[in-house]
Amino acid sequence: MENNSGDRITPLLDYENATNGLNDNNTTSTNSGFILSRKRVVFLITGLLVVALVVVAYVCSSANGKVDPPNDVPLCASNEALKAAKVVAGGDLLYRRRVPRGVLEGFSPKSNDPLKEDVQASCVWTRDMLNWQKSGFHFQPKKNWMNDPCGPLYYKGNYHIFYQYNPGQAVWGNITWGHAISKDLIHWDELPLAFEPSEWYDVGGVFTGSATVLPDGRVIMLFTGADKYGEQLQNLAYPADPSDDLLIKWTKYPGNPILRRPPGVGPTDYRDPTTAWLTSEGKWRITIGSKYNRTGVSFVYDTTDFMNYELKDTLLHSVEGVGMWECVDIFPVSTTSDDGLDVSYNGTNIKHVMKASMDDDRYDTYAIGTYDDASGTWVPDDPSIDIGLGLRYDYGTFYASKSFYDEAKKRRVLWGYVHESDYEVIDVLRGWASIYNVPRTIALDRKTGTNLLVWPVEEVEQLRNNRKTFNNITVNPGSVIPLDIGSASQLDIEAEFEIDGKTLEGMEINEELYTCNSSEGAVRRGGLGPFGLSVLSTKSLSELTPVYFYVIKGSDGNLITHFCADHSKSSLAYDVIKNIFGSTVPVLQGEKLTMRILVDHSIVESFAQRGRTNIISRVYPTQAIYDNAKLFLFNNATDATIKASIQVWQMGSAQLR
Ligand SMILES: *[C@@H]1O[C@H](CO)[C@@H](O)[C@H](O)[C@H]1NC(C)=O
Ligand SMILES: *[C@@H]1O[C@H](CO)[C@@H](O)[C@H](O)[C@H]1NC(C)=O
Ligand SMILES: *[C@@H]1O[C@H](CO)[C@@H](O)[C@H](O)[C@H]1NC(C)=O
Ligand SMILES: *[C@@H]1O[C@H](CO)[C@@H](O)[C@H](O)[C@H]1NC(C)=O
Ligand SMILES: *[C@@H]1O[C@H](CO)[C@@H](O)[C@H](O)[C@H]1NC(C)=O
Ligand SMILES: *[C@@H]1O[C@H](CO)[C@@H](O)[C@H](O)[C@H]1NC(C)=O
Repeated sequence: MENNSGDRITPLLDYENATNGLNDNNTTSTNSGFILSRKRVVFLITGLLVVALVVVAYVCSSANGKVDPPNDVPLCASNEALKAAKVVAGGDLLYRRRVPRGVLEGFSPKSNDPLKEDVQASCVWTRDMLNWQKSGFHFQPKKNWMNDPCGPLYYKGNYHIFYQYNPGQAVWGNITWGHAISKDLIHWDELPLAFEPSEWYDVGGVFTGSATVLPDGRVIMLFTGADKYGEQLQNLAYPADPSDDLLIKWTKYPGNPILRRPPGVGPTDYRDPTTAWLTSEGKWRITIGSKYNRTGVSFVYDTTDFMNYELKDTLLHSVEGVGMWECVDIFPVSTTSDDGLDVSYNGTNIKHVMKASMDDDRYDTYAIGTYDDASGTWVPDDPSIDIGLGLRYDYGTFYASKSFYDEAKKRRVLWGYVHESDYEVIDVLRGWASIYNVPRTIALDRKTGTNLLVWPVEEVEQLRNNRKTFNNITVNPGSVIPLDIGSASQLDIEAEFEIDGKTLEGMEINEELYTCNSSEGAVRRGGLGPFGLSVLSTKSLSELTPVYFYVIKGSDGNLITHFCADHSKSSLAYDVIKNIFGSTVPVLQGEKLTMRILVDHSIVESFAQRGRTNIISRVYPTQAIYDNAKLFLFNNATDATIKASIQVWQMGSAQLR
């Protein structure tokens, strides 16, 4: 079964020059079916076969009468499919889009940058491979393009998620708000679109926004619209029918827009209003991210009626040199409990977390600090790890996140936009682009006091079944151990690791400057790492996605632990992005090294030390799919022997209706 040589990677295909070579002897195409029928061999069975083939071909043919290739044939063999995808994606054969989609409209890139070199579409993707990539238990619409989460809330027994959505295609554009509800944050029902571009202030797109539930139960939605020139304007909407618990229909306030950009702000640098919170004066306060030149800033507005606003003289916060802030979020966290807090919570023993999405570099950063009600300002505890400089909820492909307070379970829940790491043409062939993380709770890490714990909601554990455990396995330096768990495309894995004490003591201080992204990944061998798990790996390790710890004894004799995910060998296809992601993770005295990994087809979510450092990845294996996806335990350290205990659950699938 295993195909080690990579010979399913067929050579480059130049569709202009390509003939139907791959289809020549292919009896599923209509033409070859008729050719067969004209042969002089007139056995009855052949005739029947031809009829069957014609029927199959007819059933398979798309609206324009063209025949889809079988599921295991590279899609580029069908010039029509590839050509159509390229027309939609606007890409030429070399993916030479000069400016990523969305940038001209004033947004962070909504398509991947062109590849550095002029490489052609790798002619590897078959329908089977693309089908396998679809998530089993991560939220995504049934088809087409999705980006930022919008207005998440809990309302009368349902969780709501709205999402930036192109209803027509798997590429960014024509942005509306999709809408789905759930009882448990795992199984979802899609509802009709909540907002479509319809007014002069949002014809250019209904962009990101936030929900506020008022104490009397009314729901307020604030969102950014773009006019036909792309200028960004803030708008108000509310449920059209106050008695509809499902919040299906919405009314845009006739007095929109409610806010225009302040002086000194560019027309496309003003977006994503937050959830509102109460001030000591009893007013509602929001913040909106922007920039002054290269300084990221966040404006503060007070309102009593959500129609009229007063711009404060002071900024909530600003950081020089980091560029535009999108999707600002601010909320309190308790210093004495893991429970979440409503954004208006006014009590003692709290810190305020502020988060902004870095438009230029496309990552979310947060900092822990103190919010002052009177001045409407926030300051970080440690300016050296201010917003844009320090901590991230996630070090992988995680962006434009938004949190909400779930009063039903007294927790703060986080959603982020997990974009693709492949190219648009493939997204179009597949029919969808991007997913959201499994919703995660956010709490202050009260052991360290300096970071958050960001962890999958407990509801996802409902999907666990068929647990297998591997206890106290000794993993010698340089070894790779297959874990026999059966199917490995949908897993929840919890693992703990211990480095043997003798090696630790004997280890010399290592002054090397290690970062996940600047190392060569899991092939770089040090005394105390890397070791961990390799998911979505073929038996022969021709494709593998290692998630690992890399430990260094620092100059003060203390250990520094890095947590990384290496995608450089995750796919034999060369038209996907293969980063190495990760960061350091705090490990306190007496703690074991722990990781949790959610594997869900092309999505891998990895958490270290119960959510201190996290990495979400999109990976696109060509061989390590279906039954050929395997799980391995490995230790690539040169000196340390590792003891590992691992629990692996198969994961059921979530419903999306
Ligand atoms: C937006 O929709 C229009 C028609 O409604 C369509 O012609 C166009 O291709 C769409 N654009 C994108 C980027 O999807
Ligand atoms: C918080 O509560 C205190 C005491 O009730 C009050 O004085 C203060 O104004 C409140 N602050 C906010 C932000 O509501
Ligand atoms: C932006 O930079 C220009 C040129 O340095 C400067 O004149 C202008 O005042 C700056 N704008 C703001 C809002 O800081
Ligand atoms: C692993 O081994 C240690 C001692 O060697 C023992 O105390 C512990 O119970 C074992 N754990 C499991 C889960 O078997
Ligand atoms: C690697 O990560 C470090 C620290 O996280 C960052 O400063 C640097 O820019 C990154 N380098 C690359 C090539 O992404
Ligand atoms: C371990 O390192 C070797 C050599 O550097 C490399 O070939 C191998 O792929 C690495 N193992 C894993 C699991 O990455």
